[in-house]
Amino acid sequence: MKGIVFTEFLDLVEHKFGLEMVDTIISQSELESEGIYTAVGTYKFSEMLQLLKNLSTNTNISIDDLLLVYAEHFFSVLKESYPDLMSMYKDPIDMLASIENHIHVEVRKIYPDAELPTFVVEEKTNNSLIMVYKSNRAMHHFGLGLMNKTFEHFNSTASIVLEKIKEDGTEVKFIINKN
Ligand code: HEM
Repeated sequence: MKGIVFTEFLDLVEHKFGLEMVDTIISQSELESEGIYTAVGTYKFSEMLQLLKNLSTNTNISIDDLLLVYAEHFFSVLKESYPDLMSMYKDPIDMLASIENHIHVEVRKIYPDAELPTFVVEEKTNNSLIMVYKSNRAMHHFGLGLMNKTFEHFNSTASIVLEKIKEDGTEVKFIINKN
């Protein structure tokens, strides 16, 4: 997992819960990196999982809810870092349907070691999209947060329903209807 995902996560934890919480979750985790991350580095996903689990235990907020809020913050990071990639799109449904074949393809050119999910588009109309998320990281709520912000970015809203295909969240169907 890319370092930018860790550095932005710890910044958000500091902002929302204070520096002490950052120290707490780092010391409660067994981290090869010792909790020292640079934006361009690459670290084990298991480190993120431990940080999330410990934050969840200390705050009584579910991992899914933490990932949702984190993704909403991460969207603005992406927008600032990759303005040209975003500005190619004029419509949220088109943008979401293009993650697999365009957006994440470009991301992989920048970071060949990025750990990205797979999105399979099953149905697409002007106002709706059904696609299946597949990733052994089960970060579907991170995806949900990014989708919510994608609609907001285009001054739009949508109702998004998640249906787990696999109980462990490694395969999830997103049913997206523009309002
Ligand atoms: C992960 C880039 C848009 C879904 C990531 C990562 C990067 C990235 C750098 C981390 C990879 C790693 O840690 O190794 C981008 C850029 C985008 C974009 C530059 C737009 C310009 C989106 C959108 C979605 C999305 C709109 C909406 C569903 C995800 C998910 C992950 C991820 C779910 C977590 C990894 C996983 O589940 O396996 N993306 N992304 N991305 N991205 Fe994107």
